[in-house]
Amino acid sequence: MVAASRVTAYEPIETASRDEISALQLERLRWSLRHAYDHIEHYRRKFDAHGVHPDDLRTLDDLARFPFTSKDDLRQNYPFRMFAVPRDRVVRVHASSGTTGQPTVVGYTQNDIDMWATLMARSIHAAGGRRGDMVHIGYGYGLFTGGLGAHYGAERLGCTVIPMSGGQTEKQVQLINDFKPDIIMVTPSYLLNLADEFKRQRIDPASSGLRVGLFGAEPWTNQMRVEIEKTFAIDAIDLYGLSEVIGPGVASECIESKDGPVIWEDHFYPEVVDPATGEVLPDGRHGELVFTSLSKEALPMIRYRTRDLTCLLPPTARSMRRIDKITGRSDDMLIIRGVNVFPSQIEELILKQPKLSPHYLIEVWRDGHLDSVAVDVELKREYRYLPAVDKEHVAHSLQRHIKSFIGISTEVRIADIGGIERSLGKARRVIDRRARE
Ligand code: DLL
Repeated sequence: MVAASRVTAYEPIETASRDEISALQLERLRWSLRHAYDHIEHYRRKFDAHGVHPDDLRTLDDLARFPFTSKDDLRQNYPFRMFAVPRDRVVRVHASSGTTGQPTVVGYTQNDIDMWATLMARSIHAAGGRRGDMVHIGYGYGLFTGGLGAHYGAERLGCTVIPMSGGQTEKQVQLINDFKPDIIMVTPSYLLNLADEFKRQRIDPASSGLRVGLFGAEPWTNQMRVEIEKTFAIDAIDLYGLSEVIGPGVASECIESKDGPVIWEDHFYPEVVDPATGEVLPDGRHGELVFTSLSKEALPMIRYRTRDLTCLLPPTARSMRRIDKITGRSDDMLIIRGVNVFPSQIEELILKQPKLSPHYLIEVWRDGHLDSVAVDVELKREYRYLPAVDKEHVAHSLQRHIKSFIGISTEVRIADIGGIERSLGKARRVIDRRARE
């Protein structure tokens, strides 16, 4: 528990009593259910078919009686039929491309944009950012929510914003060196790309002058945090969010505790459910994260199934609950010869090997009836001239660890430096050829 004296909240609600927060949640939840029911035909039909009505909500626990919403609901109502306000009140749309076909479209009223900017300002503040800090934003600008979400929040806090977006890696490094920003906001995998570029230019990333980074948009392990903090001599903060709920800033870590993103519970009500049965699980139990928006006007989300796997943790640095580091998405889980494997488990073991870099790719294919897995991974730059026999030794060591900790046999292949495709945004960690075979 962090001493209260060290906590400086951006807004008083962050440290309000649990009673005050619950009362606000109940009042807002009633409004949100009613708003969705009254203004979106899809919700009205779904609630009616389920035999529930917004008036049935008397306590927060009653929310469990309402039906879930999934990405499919958004797809079926593409592009704008899930909006609860007339189109001319929607001041912005974003869209996530997804891996298959139709994008998911999300919309915001001016009030929604204000709320989002405030929550991102709150997140940057919780990460130690202050008015006057210079913020380098390397999240992509455009239909992706990362760039503009971070941008509006940093401006709201009173920071100087460098709207770099993704890509132009050499230029990013040049600007970081010349401008000396205090804060960087980018995907963790792209930050590693920047680290490589620093080294290519013979500049030590630890001398960049950066103080803090807010990293998210993809899973990253605590081992990766250690690696990033060491390489850049910064505090690495976990920033979580998803377009359907709002974008970045649904939850974010506090610098004084760095113990999992704090959910901004005054605007989003979290539940964790059993992914198979949909049963609500008690705090502390792992399952699928579900969100209900409490104040969103354009696109209210009722019990949205995120597919992100985690558990709810008690409040520490703020009065709001936290999420544990996301171990992965239910749709990222690989089943290898019957064993459930998340790429993050392999990442953890890679980073425990002192000579291996965080650049890796997992390839899965079918050999006859059996699943086969190869892990391609690069050595750290300083070990690039390692003799072949030592390389083999490193590969074997990782192979052994994967077998004993995860329980699957893999082929580990040491790739050439730079041989693994670098990400410009969200990294691709897996190529699963089984689906196409
Ligand atoms: O990735 C929003 C965002 C932008 C968050 C920038 C943080 C920073 P989507 O493209 O809709 O939105 O993807 C959302 O990304 O359901 C998670 O699976 C994953 N994700 C986001 N943040 C984290 C995180 C943005 N901190 C999906 N840790 C989510 C793990 C994350 N996974």
